[in-house]
Amino acid sequence: MNFAETLHTNPIFEVIARRAAALDVRAFVIGGFVRDLVLKRPSKDIDIVCIGSGIDLAESVGRTLNVPVIVFKNFGTAMLRTGGSEPEEAPETTDPADRWEVEFVGARKESYRSESRKPIVEDGTLEDDQNRRDFTINAMGISLNESDFGQLLDPFGGLDDLRRKIIRTPLDPTITFSDDPLRMMRAIRFASQLGFDIEPDTFDAIVAMKDRIAIVSRERITDELNKIILSPRPSYGFKLLFHAGLLDLIFPELVALKGVETIEGKGHKDNFYHTLQVLDNVADRSDDLWLRWAALLHDIAKPATKRFDPRVGWTFHGHEDLGAKQVPGIFRQMKLPLNEKMRFVKKLVRLHLRPIALVKEQITDSALRRLLIEAGEDLEALMTLCRADITSKNYDRVKKHLTNFDKVERKLRELDERDKLRNFQPVITGELIMEAFGLKPSKEVGQIKTAVREAILEGTVANTLEAAVPYMLEEGRKFGLEPVKELTINPELVNEKPSPSGNIP
Ligand code: CTP
Repeated sequence: MNFAETLHTNPIFEVIARRAAALDVRAFVIGGFVRDLVLKRPSKDIDIVCIGSGIDLAESVGRTLNVPVIVFKNFGTAMLRTGGSEPEEAPETTDPADRWEVEFVGARKESYRSESRKPIVEDGTLEDDQNRRDFTINAMGISLNESDFGQLLDPFGGLDDLRRKIIRTPLDPTITFSDDPLRMMRAIRFASQLGFDIEPDTFDAIVAMKDRIAIVSRERITDELNKIILSPRPSYGFKLLFHAGLLDLIFPELVALKGVETIEGKGHKDNFYHTLQVLDNVADRSDDLWLRWAALLHDIAKPATKRFDPRVGWTFHGHEDLGAKQVPGIFRQMKLPLNEKMRFVKKLVRLHLRPIALVKEQITDSALRRLLIEAGEDLEALMTLCRADITSKNYDRVKKHLTNFDKVERKLRELDERDKLRNFQPVITGELIMEAFGLKPSKEVGQIKTAVREAILEGTVANTLEAAVPYMLEEGRKFGLEPVKELTINPELVNEKPSPSGNIP
């Protein structure tokens, strides 16, 4: 297979090829870029491996492109960005499609590891380098050399594995995973992102070596976990993690949801599979990582709150409050951010039962209002989670619940509009009108005020001084009124908070 034509569409490859030829080293595009090229997936990173010094080649390319090169001497790698060294530094005229991050490395016999602290000791051939990569689909190279420019170099049948949708290590999986145990998670992450199977020997090795994950940093594990969560059907990745035995090691709280207990013939649903279904349902509706985390954690306190009551069966009273309390601890342990993202997840876990409690016909405005205020700007996300939480297999029941949610949402919207209208304050006050025209309290003042208010409510005039003052003057003129000379707006006469949200519905 030859990719010469495709490579010619991006000038960076010709520059690299020319600089490599000038330095008399052979260079190849390798890894994820090649995989994504075959899969026709977009990618932004280009990895180049050369038989010689990757740093020298990078510096030569950097000089030609006139861009800075960042050198990691210990790793024997160097990196540059085309179209501006930082995305925000890129000139506005640069097409984002021309911004590439290019990493250069000399081929080595050592294992390739993005965070290896070991210095590079031994140079190698292209084959040595390919041998030491994680999966056959990530070990394909494309030549940038004059004699065979664009030629695919695929010693392990990566192309075939892409076609057959298989994740497989190039060497005996025990060797590949010993080099970097994070690769066990990467196997599952790629399977989940691409909808691939993991080849049985590779999977068996994960099962056998799962404990080795303990030497990997939490940040790298969480990075892979987030990629699984963001994949199209995350439940698939989580089931693989569970069956491999990795989930118990990296996320035991989730595994604790698994299982069904039966007492006196009464069982409850398996909250592990329920949670994964909710996660998939959210994934169908939103790409937001944090909303997906909220789905994953919404029932996390069910094991701790589970009780059996002979009259009603199983209960999980208070699991939403206890679950919300557990969120910061889980985030801390996972090295996830402890900022507003965490507070968002916590809020959604705490509120996830509230909308369903509002389904009752005779619901009071104050109950609705309390939810509106508590959910604030996250109401839509909360409703997405609540809809996703309906995992009944009974079609009629699902339909009934969804219709009920429509009703609750309508009621919430109506109340919100009513509240906004009631609390609405135009920026222009009666006092301001009197001062502007030099008037005493009179009918005209009220009429001008009403006209301004109506125009703002209609949306033809914004509720700001800049827009409303000229309109007020215009209305005054209709009554034959002229503003006082040197009209200045006394800030004390202005409504500071024109409306709850600053906008009029
Ligand atoms: N690689 C590896 N072992 C690792 C990490 C990376 O062998 N633990 C190799 C693979 O050949 C991989 C390449 O380095 O294709 C680039 O790694 P990375 O940028 O992490 O992944 P990509 O494959 O590019 O995929 P993504 O961008 O989706 O993370």
